[in-house]
Amino acid sequence: MDALDLLVNRRSASRLAAPAPQGEALDNIIRAGMRAPDHGTLQPWRFHIIEKQGLERFSALLEQAARDGEMDDKAIEKAKQSPFRAPMIITVVAHCVEHHKVPRREQLLSAGCAVMAMQMAAAAQGFNGIWRSGAWTENDAVRAAFNCREQDAIVGFLYLGTPQLKSATTVLPPDTAPFVSYF
Ligand SMILES: Cc1cc2nc3c(=O)[nH]c(=O)nc-3n(C[C@H](O)[C@H](O)[C@H](O)COP(=O)(O)O)c2cc1C
Repeated sequence: MDALDLLVNRRSASRLAAPAPQGEALDNIIRAGMRAPDHGTLQPWRFHIIEKQGLERFSALLEQAARDGEMDDKAIEKAKQSPFRAPMIITVVAHCVEHHKVPRREQLLSAGCAVMAMQMAAAAQGFNGIWRSGAWTENDAVRAAFNCREQDAIVGFLYLGTPQLKSATTVLPPDTAPFVSYF
């Protein structure tokens, strides 16, 4: 797929099924994440791949967290089912360090860029996905499961797989003018 076409016209895909990227395709996705812009070459990211039995474990983790948070039955069931919306999830953690030139904010941005790069690498290889976040990114049990230290942050859960629907097209060509000015 042409890089410019992908960047200009890309859409996320939320209806995902097997197969998930494996082998070289998955390696390319991780390598794309590792090439995110990175001030100070800090590599401020960690990628936790969840698939197969990992999805069951993640489901159990979210279910327990929902129970511990005294959520209602509907919310508990929703939490339990949410990992099964894709055959693979990559949890992206911003692994932040104290640095004299690179503030934490920039490290969070780098990790966010890694999510986007990985989603684009997936799409370029015939897969796709959707970047999700939500309250679970802040949950102590979920953070602990992904080895977050106090200074770290879960920047997203990248759901990946094979899209089940043809990607929606952008309804209107975006009018860029309101977003752009020349200084
Ligand atoms: C940081 C971040 C967090 C997001 N969290 C969610 C989320 O939890 N649930 C969701 O449906 N979309 C979430 N999105 C938006 C989707 O990834 C996606 O961009 C949106 O559905 C629009 O689709 P499009 O990418 O095809 O334009 C998030 C996006 C970003 C950048």
